[in-house]
Amino acid sequence: MRIQFDPTNLRAEMVGAEHGLTAEDLSGSNGEALAALEGFRRGYEAGHYGFPDLPNDAALVKSILQFAKSVAGTYDTVCVIGIGGSALGGWALDCGMRGPHPVQGAHTPKRPRLVILDNVDPDFTHAALASMNPKKTLVVPIAKSGSTAETVATFLIVREWLTKAVGRKASTRIAVVTTKGKGELDQMATAEKYQAFYLPESVGGRFSVLSAVGLVPAALIGLDIRKLLKGAAAITISAWKTDLSSNTALQAALYHWMIWTRRQKAIQVAFPYSNKLWGTAFWFRQLWAESLGKAKSRKGELVHVGQTPVAALGTTDQHSQVQLYMEGPNDKVYSFWAVGRFANQGRIPRGRTGFESMDYLAGQTLEKLIDSERRATAAALTENGRPNCTYTLDKVDAEHLGAFLMLMEFQTAFMGELLDINAFDQDGVELGKKFTFALMGRKGYDEYADRFKAYEKKRKAAK
Ligand code: PA5
Repeated sequence: MRIQFDPTNLRAEMVGAEHGLTAEDLSGSNGEALAALEGFRRGYEAGHYGFPDLPNDAALVKSILQFAKSVAGTYDTVCVIGIGGSALGGWALDCGMRGPHPVQGAHTPKRPRLVILDNVDPDFTHAALASMNPKKTLVVPIAKSGSTAETVATFLIVREWLTKAVGRKASTRIAVVTTKGKGELDQMATAEKYQAFYLPESVGGRFSVLSAVGLVPAALIGLDIRKLLKGAAAITISAWKTDLSSNTALQAALYHWMIWTRRQKAIQVAFPYSNKLWGTAFWFRQLWAESLGKAKSRKGELVHVGQTPVAALGTTDQHSQVQLYMEGPNDKVYSFWAVGRFANQGRIPRGRTGFESMDYLAGQTLEKLIDSERRATAAALTENGRPNCTYTLDKVDAEHLGAFLMLMEFQTAFMGELLDINAFDQDGVELGKKFTFALMGRKGYDEYADRFKAYEKKRKAAK
């Protein structure tokens, strides 16, 4: 298993000193990286951050695989109900290890599909239910808090749909992932005797893909979760190293921190050249945005930091976004995600096409074309002074995917340290949630109902 990080095109020699990092920027930055590593290590040792330990939970893996075995062959669809960190990891795993986006093979009890209900759009929910056979569906509600409005509301609908079809057996067709002793989901699981899997308190939602949150759906659709964790474990080992050249996560965090804060690249484009990594790009978008978009530093100063993550797919988005990337504001850093070897080469037929201008393609492969297009786009951006870097996965399989997910989690954690912010909270989403509770008439939210009324009054006056 190998993942390489190439920061060359972030350097001033390649994109100029106005937009690239100079030798001066780079020299002396080791100390900051090591301080970030130590800061994170202290928090980890104090028990605040649990994600690095997830690959070692053999008991959890055993219990998930036992459950998967006990229900194997009885379903052709796994219906996950979750949102944010409780949904995006599952999608990244399915897309990466089985995908690729947007093609899904036929689903059978031997090859069940994953349907993720991660929105409360009623038309989406209706269409999803209409596409599933309740007698052949396993339902997996996932919520770390156990009480997220979207997840609970959708689960109540799905539970009724399931119960109408299978009666009391419904409880045997539901497996819950939540925090033990927290929220309504765990209480329901106990009362109605659902299979339940738990994630540790110290593992935040967007850092939970390698906990039961991602592993349960992955195992139920037949993905190799042991290999996934093997890859992740390898990164955990390297991420504690103080030698930067053998610690890719720390090295990448340092470069991203410098290019962002010293060259004002406020936007990061995650640019996989692989449909299998498309789900991971959306998973990364949440990880980066919610972890690093913060109002206050750890000292309590108002800082309003954040780098806006954008997902783009190569080569598809070369024909949609690259015009902007090449000629628009130079406020972005581009992270190419390359694949060394695809599972298929996509051979283009040999022989004359009858069009001389097309013959250059004959006998070549799509694998070479996609790789050439990525390298060409990187070169073009570099010529235009647009800083970019490349992560290369030797291939996209369970081990590499597990490693890449863990790499991005450590990179994000280190970035939080470099920025001196708490990368593990998300206070910014609370106010909207409280207004929603007030609008939906939940008890105890009168204060927010009043604040919402005041907001509406103000809007009326402003119109
Ligand atoms: O990263 C996070 O903590 C959040 O994005 C959560 O994953 C999201 O809000 C869903 O929360 P829950 O799993 O409690 O439903």
